Amino acid sequence: MAVTVYISCDSGALALGAERIAQVVSREAQQRGIDIRLIRNGSRGLFWLEPLVEVLTELGRVAYGSVQVHDVSGLFDSGFLSGSPHPLFLGLTEELPFFKKQQRLTFARIGLTDPVSLEDYLAHDGYRGLNNALTISGADIVRQVTDSGLRGRGGAAFPTGIKWNTVLNAEADQKYIICNADEGDSGTFSDRMVMEGDPFVLIEGMTIAGIAVGATQGYIYLRVEYPHAHKALNTAIAKAYAAGYLGQNIQGSGKTFDLEVRLGAGAYVCGEETSLMESLEGKRGLVRFKPPLPAISGLFGKPTIVNNVISLASVPIILDKGGEFYRDFGMGRSRGTLPIQLAGNIKCPGLVELAFGLTLRELLYDFGGGSASGRPIKAVQVGGPLGAYLPESQFDTPLDYEAFAAIWAVVGHGGIVVFDDTVDMAEMARYSMEFCAIESCGKCTPCRIGSTRGMEVLDDIINGRELNKNIPLLRDLCDTLLNGSLCALGGMTPYPVLSALNHFPLDFGLTDQADAA
Ligand SMILES: Cc1cc2nc3c(=O)[nH]c(=O)nc-3n(C[C@H](O)[C@H](O)[C@H](O)COP(=O)(O)O)c2cc1C
Ligand code: SF4
Repeated sequence: MAVTVYISCDSGALALGAERIAQVVSREAQQRGIDIRLIRNGSRGLFWLEPLVEVLTELGRVAYGSVQVHDVSGLFDSGFLSGSPHPLFLGLTEELPFFKKQQRLTFARIGLTDPVSLEDYLAHDGYRGLNNALTISGADIVRQVTDSGLRGRGGAAFPTGIKWNTVLNAEADQKYIICNADEGDSGTFSDRMVMEGDPFVLIEGMTIAGIAVGATQGYIYLRVEYPHAHKALNTAIAKAYAAGYLGQNIQGSGKTFDLEVRLGAGAYVCGEETSLMESLEGKRGLVRFKPPLPAISGLFGKPTIVNNVISLASVPIILDKGGEFYRDFGMGRSRGTLPIQLAGNIKCPGLVELAFGLTLRELLYDFGGGSASGRPIKAVQVGGPLGAYLPESQFDTPLDYEAFAAIWAVVGHGGIVVFDDTVDMAEMARYSMEFCAIESCGKCTPCRIGSTRGMEVLDDIINGRELNKNIPLLRDLCDTLLNGSLCALGGMTPYPVLSALNHFPLDFGLTDQADAA
């Protein structure tokens, strides 16, 4: 009988050579006359061990990693197809501490299944949520989502149930569901992993959303830099249509939901929901004034749900197991789980899905293993390029929206970028202003002009010029950005800038925090 071998087709694994390993393993098996069944799965999210090769044995799936081309013949010689010991042998994949300590709800199938196999999806609890949704009213579906406590994972953490309810109650001849798959934040990759590793879960979540609020058309707005996700989504969408999970009369229910992928050309601001809709309508990605809210007047002026990939991909398990089940995870008003992305200068980068509530320190050391360089971790930026920098003294903050807000930080999309003690935080602050200047859509003055002036002031500060004048000037400018910007691109740039200044005054040529005030 053929032995089943898994090698990931996730972009992260491919970047580390997984495609070549898959070719060499196939060729070696053929040359030795051994029958293998090679499955290209999503990634388990243990990126420092990629390319990871898993073999299905009598005991379960065992892992070898990270495998290089020159390791392959030795693996065959040592009998890895029956799970034999080898220097790269890691044991049962699901017993690896990084994996075992996780609580995977949204990522339950990722790394386990063949992403574009509908049979595999169905065999692993796929479409159970939709099947339940088809037996209840739209209002009851929305109630389940509201009861789950799910808050948007795209950054703003707005309650998903409230947004859906607004669209449900809006009168219109056409409504839309948009999945925001622009994933522009630095250090984030959970959306990409879902789309590449389990595209059906996103399709199912969007279909449930459409049926709940009476929207018959969905769009996935995908960044052009994700070609593997594009391919996986299109393959899965075609299979869902063929099997009656998309289109007219879904599973004999009489309900209709059509879905297609649209590519964005790659502007950070096109991740902002109104700018995204402008782009979808074929216009330049320019932020719109709010109100009206997209839920009232969104795409082409129609009521529209815009949700992040993770928000929508969390819906099937909520409809399968119930809102209460999901709500049981987490702390305070942060319910459920968060797929956290560990990146930057960290020994064990990867994807950790856990209930809200664990501390940054646990993440950085118990999961991440400390810095990759072996030097002390000086700062972490949480929540993308607009997130605050947190110093060591804040590493005991629990991952919770309110706990982060209390220290003037954000959880955002759950991306964590780690820096060791060689980082210069004044340079990082300048980089944040530069990022804002480059990515600004130009619609409002504080962001369009303020970001460039901010770079100039920071250049003066970095060069030690008139700190007693320029530090207050920088604070004043940040105050204008914070309060006068039309959207969060300009409005949140002060988070990284001021957190760097407040927590690391020495890097700005100041002697202590009092000077930074
Ligand atoms: C500059 C900027 C960029 C954004 N980029 C993204 C993004 O890449 N993905 C995303 O889901 N939300 C992004 N957002 C947030 C969206 O505007 C919106 O709040 C989100 O898509 C709503 O979905 P959710 O409620 O599921 O989080 C961005 C916001 C701003 C201001
Ligand atoms: S803050 Fe920046 S990105 Fe947002 S609307 Fe104003 S100019 Fe555009």
